[in-house]
Amino acid sequence: MKDELSEHTRNILGLQLPTDPRWVNLAELQLEEILTDHAYCEQKAATTCISLIQKNPEKALLVEKLSPIVTEEWGHFRQVLAELKKRKLSLGRQRKDVYVNKLIDFIKKGGSPTERFLDQMLIMALIEARSCERFKRLSEGLDDQYMRKFYRKFMESEAGHYTLFINLAEHYIDKKIVRTRWKEWLAYEKTLMNSTEVRGDRIH
Ligand SMILES: [Fe+2]
Ligand SMILES: [Fe+2]
Repeated sequence: MKDELSEHTRNILGLQLPTDPRWVNLAELQLEEILTDHAYCEQKAATTCISLIQKNPEKALLVEKLSPIVTEEWGHFRQVLAELKKRKLSLGRQRKDVYVNKLIDFIKKGGSPTERFLDQMLIMALIEARSCERFKRLSEGLDDQYMRKFYRKFMESEAGHYTLFINLAEHYIDKKIVRTRWKEWLAYEKTLMNSTEVRGDRIH
């Protein structure tokens, strides 16, 4: 059953490596840490979309499509904050994001503006895809029925975001180029996942 789900997730998102099944069990034991890390993931998603709009004002479709995503991601941040408050937990400080930092290392240094733009779209697509896969894990693997539903909603939103970033890349750049680079990103992410410690206090 577990393997079937992994296969399913992989097919939807293109990810090369399903999350280690132990992760959800570890996460369940540290839900407070997960909620804090999750809150910052949502916050960063919102601020990155704002920054993409600021850096690409001439790209009308991007501005149009990302503006509501800012609101949505900020709404996600507020939902996680509310959940923390309900549990009488505080937000806590932002944690070091090893996963995202390692992804940033893969962005082409000194590339053309188009190459840089493509990498910015694809890194966002990848983070959305992996987040979606992690939320799916939580929505299926947690014992707490309420938290399963909580994460199911996030999973659905992030799946839509993943597609949006790929579509935006393909709107501005030749599809063949997008697909070739996307495959490189997926391969890199697989290596990254394989070499990163599984920890239950992080979304990624
Ligand atoms: Fe989100
Ligand atoms: Fe998102």
